[in-house]
Amino acid sequence: MKKIISVVGARPNFMKMAPVHRAFQKYKSEYQHLICHTGQHYDEKMSKIFFEDLELPHPDFYLGVGSGSHAQQTARVMIEFEKILIEQQPECVIVYGDVNSTIACAMTAVKLGIKVAHVEAGLRSFDRTMPEEINRILTDSISDFLFVTEQSGIDNLKNEGVVTDKVFFVGNTMIDSLIYYQIKANQSNAHTTYELNSGDLVLATLHRPHNVDTTEQLEKIVSLLNSISEKAKILFPIHPRTRKNLEAAKLISTFKKNIIITEPIGYINFLSLMQKSKLIITDSGGIQEETTYLGIQCITARDNTERPSTVEIGTNQLVGTNWEDVGNAALSVLSGNFKQGSIPPLWDGHAAERIVEMLDERL
Ligand code: UD1
Repeated sequence: MKKIISVVGARPNFMKMAPVHRAFQKYKSEYQHLICHTGQHYDEKMSKIFFEDLELPHPDFYLGVGSGSHAQQTARVMIEFEKILIEQQPECVIVYGDVNSTIACAMTAVKLGIKVAHVEAGLRSFDRTMPEEINRILTDSISDFLFVTEQSGIDNLKNEGVVTDKVFFVGNTMIDSLIYYQIKANQSNAHTTYELNSGDLVLATLHRPHNVDTTEQLEKIVSLLNSISEKAKILFPIHPRTRKNLEAAKLISTFKKNIIITEPIGYINFLSLMQKSKLIITDSGGIQEETTYLGIQCITARDNTERPSTVEIGTNQLVGTNWEDVGNAALSVLSGNFKQGSIPPLWDGHAAERIVEMLDERL
C-alpha cells in the first residue's frame, strides 16, 4: 500500500485538505492517506472545531509546535516532521497553502528525497514583506507537483521558469469544501445564536500583522467599524493575534453596541454567516475566494492580493489599507452598489479528485 502524508498546521489549511482526504478514501483504496497536524494553530477554536466540522479523523501525527518567531516555528516543525518521515517513509508529502508549516514540511521532505505536492501553487502577491509570499515562492521552487487554483498561478510559475509538466490546473479544494458543506451550513442556526435576525449584516475578519500589529492601525480599524456600525450590524470574530493586540492597546472595550465581538467561529457556522451577509470586510486570503464563489460582496483591506481572479472575475474589491477608503467602499456597498461577479474556471467541487487522479498516475 502506498503511503501519502498530508500536512496541515494553521486554520486555512484544514478546509483545503479535507476534500483530498475524502477523495483518497473514496477512490483509492490502494493508498494510505495519513494526516500530520503540526500544531501551528492549537486553540480549540482555531483547530479542533475545524476537524469536527470537516468530519476529519484525529490527525495520525500531532507535532505540537505552537507559536513562536518565524524561525522558531519553522525550525520546530522541521525537526519534528523529519522524525515522522524517517519512520514512515511515505511516497509523497502533500502541503497546502502558504503558512509556515507548508514550507517547513516541504523542505524537510525534499531533503529526504521524498516527493512533494503543493496544493494552491503559483499564487503571488509580489509583496515579499509578507511571510506567506516567501513561503509560496520557496515551496513552489522545491515541489514536484504544483496544483494550481487559478490562471494567475499558471502564468506566475511560467514566468519563474518552472517546467510545465510539473504544473496542473486543477481548481480549488477550498471551494470543494464549501460546496460539500453548504447543505450543512444551510442548517446552521448561527444567525440566531448571534441575534442577527434583523437588518443588514457585515462580517469583519482582520488578522494580518500589517493591519493588527500596531496600535495606530488598530485605532483606525475600531473607528472604521464603529462608523459602519451606524448603518449595519457587524459581527467581528477576532483572531487570537488581533485579540491579543486589541487587549494590549486597551481598545477591546471601545467597540460600539452594534458590533458583536466573538471568538473565532467554526467552519460550518462561518460559512452560514458568510452566505447571509451583505458584505464582508477582510484581510484573509481564503475569504476572498469563498465570497467570490458565493457571489457575496467582499472588501479586501490589503494593498495586494495573490488571488487576482477574485477581483477580475469575482465580487472582491481590493481597496487597500487606507481605512477611509475601506469605509467609503463599505458604505457604497451598503447603499446598494454591488459588484457583479462570476465563478472562476474549475471551481466546481472536484479539484481534490483531479489531484488524487494526477498523483495516482505519477507516483
Ligand atoms: C497564520 C499564517 C497566515 C494565515 C493565518 C490564518 C504564517 C506565516 N501565517 O498566521 O498566513 O492567514 O495563520 O489564521 O504561517 N495564536 C493563538 N492560538 C492559536 C494560534 C495562534 O493564540 O491557535 C496566537 C499566538 O499568539 C501567535 C499568534 O496568534 O503568536 C500568531 O499565530 P501564527 O500561527 O504565528 O500566525 P497567524 O497570525 O495565525
